[in-house]
Formats: sequence, structure tokens, C-alpha cells
Amino acid sequence: MTDIQQQITTLTERLHYLNHQYYQRDLSEIPDQEFDQMLADLARLEKEYPQFAHPNSPTQRVGGTITKQFPTAEHRFPMLSLGNTYSEADLREFDERVRRGLEGAEVAYVCELKFDGVAMSLTYQDGQLTQGVTRGDGTRGDVVTSNVRTIKNLPLHLRPTPNQPSDFEVRGEIFMPLPVFADLNAEREANGEQLLANPRNAASGALKLQDSALVAARRLRFYAYSFLTAGRGTFPTHSASLEALQAWGLPVSDTWRRCHSLQDVLDFVHEWDKKRFTLPVATDGIVVKVDDFQQQEILGFTAKSPRWAIAYKYPAEAARTRLREIRYQVGRTGAVTPVALLDPVPLAGTVVKRASVHNANQIAALDLRLGDMVFVEKGGEIIPKITGVDGSARPADSEPIKYPTACPACGTPLIRPEGEAHFRCPNDRGCPPQRKARLEHFVSRKAMNIDGLGAETVGRFFDLGLVTDAASLYALPAKAAELAQLDRMGEKSVQRLLTGLEESKQVPFDRVLFGLGIRYVGETVAEKLAAHYRSMEAISAATATELAAVPEVGGVIAESLAAWFQEDDNLALVSGLRAAGVQLALTGEAPQAVSDRLAGLTFVLSGVFEQHSREDLQQLIQQHGGKVTGSISKKLSYLVAGDKMGPAKREKATELKVPIISEADLMAMLPTETNAPVAAEEESTSTTLPSEDFSPETSLPAKPVTGQGQQGSLF
Ligand code: IVH
Repeated sequence: MTDIQQQITTLTERLHYLNHQYYQRDLSEIPDQEFDQMLADLARLEKEYPQFAHPNSPTQRVGGTITKQFPTAEHRFPMLSLGNTYSEADLREFDERVRRGLEGAEVAYVCELKFDGVAMSLTYQDGQLTQGVTRGDGTRGDVVTSNVRTIKNLPLHLRPTPNQPSDFEVRGEIFMPLPVFADLNAEREANGEQLLANPRNAASGALKLQDSALVAARRLRFYAYSFLTAGRGTFPTHSASLEALQAWGLPVSDTWRRCHSLQDVLDFVHEWDKKRFTLPVATDGIVVKVDDFQQQEILGFTAKSPRWAIAYKYPAEAARTRLREIRYQVGRTGAVTPVALLDPVPLAGTVVKRASVHNANQIAALDLRLGDMVFVEKGGEIIPKITGVDGSARPADSEPIKYPTACPACGTPLIRPEGEAHFRCPNDRGCPPQRKARLEHFVSRKAMNIDGLGAETVGRFFDLGLVTDAASLYALPAKAAELAQLDRMGEKSVQRLLTGLEESKQVPFDRVLFGLGIRYVGETVAEKLAAHYRSMEAISAATATELAAVPEVGGVIAESLAAWFQEDDNLALVSGLRAAGVQLALTGEAPQAVSDRLAGLTFVLSGVFEQHSREDLQQLIQQHGGKVTGSISKKLSYLVAGDKMGPAKREKATELKVPIISEADLMAMLPTETNAPVAAEEESTSTTLPSEDFSPETSLPAKPVTGQGQQGSLF
């Protein structure tokens, strides 16, 4: 083994071990930063020496491959569903059926929680994860292996043990942990994006994403609940198989229990009725399984489901209470959201006082009136919603709800853009809650993350007129004495805040861009824009059409950006930030220019390529002076077609007479010795995009590659 190969293997094994300790055993053996450094080292070595990279390397968890669509695969064992029951009487009948089928033999059950996510079939061969397939139609599903590899609590390779078959399948549920769901929706709301309906949709939507780096950002998790193999007799019981899966390193929720009687099963059902709401995963019932595999075989299957298992579904958690008032909140992007204030009522483990009503349509559809008795439900969502009105209890003096026509905060007439469900206050410059929310967003953790200046403090400063916009924050040092006089502030807090402000001037450009709160410009889009244009200047100079051609930036985002840079106030804000010394350009090395062989040419990359990843091809094109865009137009020089390119792209290119070339044709256009992408980290600081903000001397604080997170093993 060469030194490098040895180094890669050692790092791979050590990182696998640390991941296992962290995600399965809740043990953090080394600081996150050190972990991220090791991961970055491994990524660098793998890039330089791809021949030594392990296919299941821990670096695969950060994602990065873009495929165009998913191939499908046939399930070795069909993926069936479970019969549902909703009452204890149904469970009793199930127990009787099982006992009849087993001619009165002793029977033990395993009770598990029914996780509300997406079913997944994983194949492990010689201890390595080789395939992840969705349920699909039960016979065939989508092969989503690269997406599944990003799930951090899912082992890419297993701890070897003598009883581990060389080829087996594990089934389980992929889900989005509730805190992650809440986080993601809060972010989407702040960006004026459509909210995700519930954690299950969020998980299944994430698995369908084409770019696994985006999947990684969704922080999905996995719980195993079945073991399947072609041979018989590996384990006598389902419970023994669960224990083995756990021992091999697969995550099995420790909520399951072996039950020896129907009464034990019913006790389990009752116990988890409320307790399930303390779990970080959405659950909608209990699954009861006959434990003994031989007994399972005797009982067999119906056409759709096993006779040896059943799902007990808890009734949807609903409560009835009175609607007192509707408040209208104005968000950062001006969207007006009605919030119902209710008489407090206990529901699914919490006391509910507020519920969402979504929008004006919903109010009309429910014929909601103030004073009505309403039903509220928690359907996996964090904020409960009003699902109905008890018409029989409508008081005579109930009042129809008059949806405001003017902004409740600034009085500007509301508008409702076509196709949108929300009314919006268009006064983005003057409307106080919008301005305040923008400031809160600017200082938030994922944007400038200013130590000593949280949402509450900045809101207070805004109310007191001490700050008006993001740039004005940097004038706070001049007001230090005034700040120290404020309640709950004091010298120390002021000092901390001022240090935090100073440090925020080193926050990388992509996060500054995200912090501006431009509609639809979330974290990922900001990163892509920053990487593509490298400076605020270059972005502001781009037209909507140019912006829309950047991969991941569609027409809607491009229009929103271009419109933002048209506003004088926004340009003034940017100048203010520039004057304050905030990073308005990337300061790291730009991709290194290697030749100008492709200068003046633009390319669209489509489909899956054989020799290089799409990112590598993009980098290669850029390093040789070419441009990569996302859409096919007359001006495009070449469409580079990979495997599985959609027919629409081919048609459009043919129609516009854009030449379609292969990956090999593209490589042939490059100088022969240099046609491997040169890693940006290697050397040199030359850039093809000069800008007044570009300062190659300043080095960036390393951005964590993965961020193991601080929140406990599931996250
Ligand atoms: S066992 C033959 N166990 O519920 C099916 N399923 O209709 C055996 N689910 O979509 C499935 N938690 O993904 C089983 N602890 C659990 C489960 C579980 C959730 C899902 C499963 C499927 C549905 C069954």
C-alpha cells in the first residue's frame, strides 16, 4: 500500500468510527472543528488520488453528485404495506386471528412505533451499503443511493460480526427530525418561500432532489425496523434481528418492546399515546409484529400485507376550543399571515393558544367567524391548525372575519400577486415590521451571527430608533455610551456586542448576501451566486437573464435579485455595508485559470457523465476560460450531453441549432496535459473576475464542511 493510500484508509476508518460514536452512541470524542478538518483533509486527498477513495467514504455524506433522474430497481422482496386498525377491538381481533392461525401456540409480539416518514430499502453487501431504493409501487422503486448516503446516522459500512450475512436488506424509515423541520420552515417563511406541509412531505421531497448536496442540507435521519435476507435461519426472531442490526451499527429506535400478551400490547399502545410527542420524530401509530420468524412464515401474507403484523393508528389529535381573535402578522417579505388566538386548550402534550389559518382562502373555505368553536389539530406540523368549525355551537353574535385590505402595521393597501395565496404589504422600505424582521434576519445565526446581538436586542434597538437598517448597525460603536444606559445592557454586554460587530466584518460574502434577505435568496442560492460571481458588484451588474442562467438560480430568483438591485435604498444599503468594511466579495482563491482555450464559449451540461462529475466538468470549463449556464438559448455555444439527458433539452438545442457534443468531445477541446480540474486549494491567487473588492491577501476563516452539529445524536 502506498503512503497516500494508507493515509486515506486511516482517515476513512477513523472518521467512520467517530461518526458511529457520534450518531449512534451520542459520544463526541473530538471537537467538531477537528472532525471537520479531518474530513476536509480526506476530501482533498480523494480529489487528488481518486483511485484510492473508498466508495462509501465519509465524504460522501456531504453530497455533491448531480444526477438527472433516478434509475429504478426491482425489489428482491416486495415492499408491502400494513393493514391499519383504529381501535382496541381491532387489535383484539388481530390477536385472535394470529392465535387461530398458529393453532393456539404461544405467541410473542414486538411493538414498535410507526414512524411517519418514507420507507427505504437498503442493501448491504460485505458490510458495505450498496443501494438505497424507495418503495415505489412496491415492486420497483427509485434508486436514490447517493441521496441516502448523505444521511448521517446511517452507516455506510457496518461493524463486521460473525453472524452478519454477506448480502442482506434492511428496511426502515427515513424522516426529517421535528426540530429540523421547524428550523427549515422558519427559514422558508423568512425567505418568503412556500412552507413544507409536514415532516413526511419534507423527507420525501428531499429524497427526490437531484443534487445530493442539497439533500445533505435537509438533515434527514433513518431508523431501521426490518431485516431481510434470502437464506433462512440467520435469526430466530424479529427481536433478535433488531438487536443484531443495532450491534452492527444501524440505528434502531430504542422504543421497541417485546410483548407476551395482548394486554402487554395494549399497555404499550396506551403508554406511547402521549409519550410519543416527546420524540424528535413524527409518529402516527404503533406497529405490532409477531416476533418468531417461523410463526411469521406460517401466517404468511394477503395480497397487500403480512398477516403477522398490523398498524394501530392513533386518532388524529384534535381539540375543540373558542376562536377569540385573528391577528395579522407581517413577515420579512411583507407576507401577511393570519394567526388565530384561541382559548387555551391541551392538545398532544402542549397547551395550544394560537393556531395557523394559513391565508384568506382558508378563512373563507372554513367560513370562520370570531367566537366560533373550532377544531384544532396537530398533524405533524409544529403549529397546530384550525381544521373545522363546530357549526352547531355558533353563537348568535358571531362576527364574520373581515380580512384587512390595508397593512395592519403601516396602512399601505395590500396586494395579492397572481398565483400567490398570501396578501402582501408592498411597502418594503417603510413598513416597520418588515424592516425590523430584515434586521433580525441579518444578525441571525446563519447570516452574520453577531455575538451579543440577537433578534430581541436588535428589535429593541430598532424600536428605539438606534438602528434603521443593516448598515446602521455598524454605527453602534459611536453610540456605546447610550447603549450602556439601556435596561439589561450594561458595559459588558455593550463590549461583547461591539466585538461581535467587529468580528462580523469577517463573515464570508455568501452569508452577507444571504443576510440581506432578498426574496427567494436562501442560504444555498446565496452560496451558488457568491461562488459564481464572487462579488456583490458582479452580481449587481448582471441582468436577470444572466442571473437565471446560473445553475440553481431560476427565473423567479433572478427577477427578484435584479429588481432588488434596481432600488436606490438597496444600493445605499450596499454602499453603507461596504463603507463599514463588511465582506462584499469572496476572498479565497478563485478557480485557477489554466488556459483560455474555451474563452468566449458557453456550455450547458446535462445528464450524467461517465468520466467526470458535473461539478468537475463545470470547473474544467471555467478553468479554461469558458462559461457554464443553465438554460439553452440561441447564444449557447454547446450543449454537452451526458447519459439520461431529457428529450426536451435535445429538442430545444436542435431547434436553436446549438451543437450537441459529448463529454469526450468536450475533453478533446482542452489542451491534453491539463484536462483534469485543478483543485482551487492547490496554489495561485489569479482570478478571471477582477473586482475592487477582491483582496486575495485576506484569508477566510475555514467554513465547516459538515458541521456535526451540537444538538445530540439524531441531528
Ligand atoms: S414494518 C410489510 N415497522 O409504515 C410492511 N413499518 O404500511 C412492514 N413504518 O410505509 C413494515 N414505522 O415504512 C414497519 N416500525 C415500523 C414502521 C413502519 C413506519 C411505515 C412503513 C410503511 C408503512 C406500512
